[in-house]
Amino acid sequence: MAEDLMKKIVSLCKRRGIIFQSSEIYGGLQSCWDYGPLGVELKNNVKRLWWDAVVKERDDVVGVDTSIIMHPRVWEASGHIKKFSDPMVDCKECKQRFRAEDIEGGVCPECGGELTEARNFNLMFKTFMGALEDESAVVYLRPETCQSIFVNFQNIVNSTRQKIPFGIAQIGKSFRNEITPRNFTFRSREFEQMELEYFVREAESPKWYDYWVEQRMKWYRDIGFKEANLRLREHEERELAFYAKRCVDIEYRFPFLDGGFGELEGIAERGTYDLSQQMEHSGADLRYLDKETNERFIPAVVETSGGVDRTILALICDAYHEEEVRGEKRVLLKLNPEIAPVKVVVLPLSKKPELCEPARKIERMLRPHFETFYDETQSIGRRYRRMDEVGTPYAVTYDFDSINDKQVTVRDRDTLKQVRLPIDNLVAFIKDLFEKGSWE
Ligand code: GAP
Repeated sequence: MAEDLMKKIVSLCKRRGIIFQSSEIYGGLQSCWDYGPLGVELKNNVKRLWWDAVVKERDDVVGVDTSIIMHPRVWEASGHIKKFSDPMVDCKECKQRFRAEDIEGGVCPECGGELTEARNFNLMFKTFMGALEDESAVVYLRPETCQSIFVNFQNIVNSTRQKIPFGIAQIGKSFRNEITPRNFTFRSREFEQMELEYFVREAESPKWYDYWVEQRMKWYRDIGFKEANLRLREHEERELAFYAKRCVDIEYRFPFLDGGFGELEGIAERGTYDLSQQMEHSGADLRYLDKETNERFIPAVVETSGGVDRTILALICDAYHEEEVRGEKRVLLKLNPEIAPVKVVVLPLSKKPELCEPARKIERMLRPHFETFYDETQSIGRRYRRMDEVGTPYAVTYDFDSINDKQVTVRDRDTLKQVRLPIDNLVAFIKDLFEKGSWE
């Protein structure tokens, strides 16, 4: 059942240009994904809503956009070179490799063959920088975006004069050579993170942790997730990194996890560990100077770390809906209009030039205000269905009556309600719908 649903979602994503497998014409590259014309809009919307809430609408958070390749010593300091690994076992028969923690019965889950002892396998992607391909030229693709925030801490304090408590945020690509990438984009080898490092006095860390847990949950609700599919899961002591005081995951009930929940975002009290480590390994002074008290100290960090791709996958799963309308199956994505890649589609009732021309004109009139799309091919019913499938909240239809009465019909994706109104009022009417957030 859940498998069927995921098949439908993967197929819809491909059919409608949301997500394609990378390098598909060569058989695909497992665990890498390409966002198509509608996918990139969806992704930009998610990132914009995160950036608005975490950076733009606040005066205590600034943003950065840093390079993916960093000095290799960054990863020594962070512990990734030594510790960012998974214990792996290999099957001696079929040669497949598995995470040791995924093995339940001591034998190969694929063929029942004998397994090797567990060995550690580092998850960072290695490459070479410059002309030489030797150990001295080894660099890594970052496995998380936050280390460049810690490394730039002093630069940002000096250039912005932000006062503690304040945050530094970044959205960017991260890379992990995951052993068992699976479940569509859920665990990929190349993905995007949205991370905030919020710097506080150590004594205030618990307070800010609670604050950010609440803020981040609110954001997931605001972008349209159903409450019943979200939950918070506090990490048990044994799951915590030795330096972390508390950590909670915001989880979503993904259909492929058999009703179970999977992580969307981690929020952690990381203490002073990250800045201390980078300070010790680089020799740079990353302490914060409180100019009022003249006190120098290493701030503690509260981190919120979410995944763009997982958020998008969860949004699509959450919005996917099938229903029967007049004996026909209708598939729709009930996406929050703010997230929907296309906001308004303009449709002439038929392909007759006397309808197409004015309909195109209406689309051009709406274009500066909303993401729009114009479609004149195939029957009106088929065209409605196509836009329902990608979650377009509003459809504007120009019919034969429109020629004389200068009115059009606006149709609501979810309720199928229709209203007729003068073309001159269209922009204001749709703007109002967005503002109110509903048709009522
Ligand atoms: N700086 C902390 C950190 O990176 P993480 O829990 O390893 O923490 C944070 O990653 C988020 O990044 C996850 O909650 C998830 O949304 C996303 N993420 C991590 N690995 C991923 C992968 N292989 N594919 C897709 N998203 C991933």
